[in-house]
Amino acid sequence: MTKKKLIAGNWKMNGSLAANESLVKALLQDVGTPDCEVAVCVPAPYLAQMQALLAGSPIALGAQDLSAQQQGAFTGEQSATMLKDFGVRYAIVGHSERRQYHGETDEAVAAKAAAALANGITPIVCVGETLAQRESAHTEEVVKRQLAAVIHVNGHCISEIVVAYEPVWAIGTGKTATPEQAQSVHALLRAQLHHAANEHAAGIHILYGGSMNAANAAELLAQPDIDGGLIGGASLKAPDFLQIIAAAR
Ligand code: 13P
Repeated sequence: MTKKKLIAGNWKMNGSLAANESLVKALLQDVGTPDCEVAVCVPAPYLAQMQALLAGSPIALGAQDLSAQQQGAFTGEQSATMLKDFGVRYAIVGHSERRQYHGETDEAVAAKAAAALANGITPIVCVGETLAQRESAHTEEVVKRQLAAVIHVNGHCISEIVVAYEPVWAIGTGKTATPEQAQSVHALLRAQLHHAANEHAAGIHILYGGSMNAANAAELLAQPDIDGGLIGGASLKAPDFLQIIAAAR
């Protein structure tokens, strides 16, 4: 049995009570019973709003980050148990914007993945190379190092994670990796997961992210090791996000 694909929206730091409500209502009106798993990863202040709006729907709730700590003096952070209180199913960890602007190291990302897993939240672990790293032929080394750190700490339950390959040069730029470029990195990641999880590696979702949109989704999702998408800009427009969902079968 082949697994269902996963289409996850990453709203990043966008939205308002009013805008979220109209976006989600438009999604719920037309999403029907999708052939794939669907999630939206929303800004933390809107988790309660989204929990209420998405209750009983086929769209799961996700967060964009979480703390590696359980509780205590960590100003500005949200723990996994707090996210659980709002019905959060997924948490993005190690997005390149967090690595770049907040100095998140591979070790910090691995610890966040562990905190999510320990609390029944599925971490969506992001990996990806910059343009300079790709052009200097370091893509393989970079993504393998990023994933290895997560496997090192979470090896015993690695089959519970979701991986997202997001080439940094493709994020928000309109430049998408070609299906062949994406597939070749996804195959590397699958092999690395196979090493850690044996036959369970086939069941791990490896998402592609980086300027995925309504026009290019089907071709990317047709690749054998692309099991879904992590969508930024296009997830903020209901018709576009719905088209991507429809392409994931
Ligand atoms: P865009 O789809 O806007 O390129 O963003 C991708 C991304 O970073 C999703 O996490």
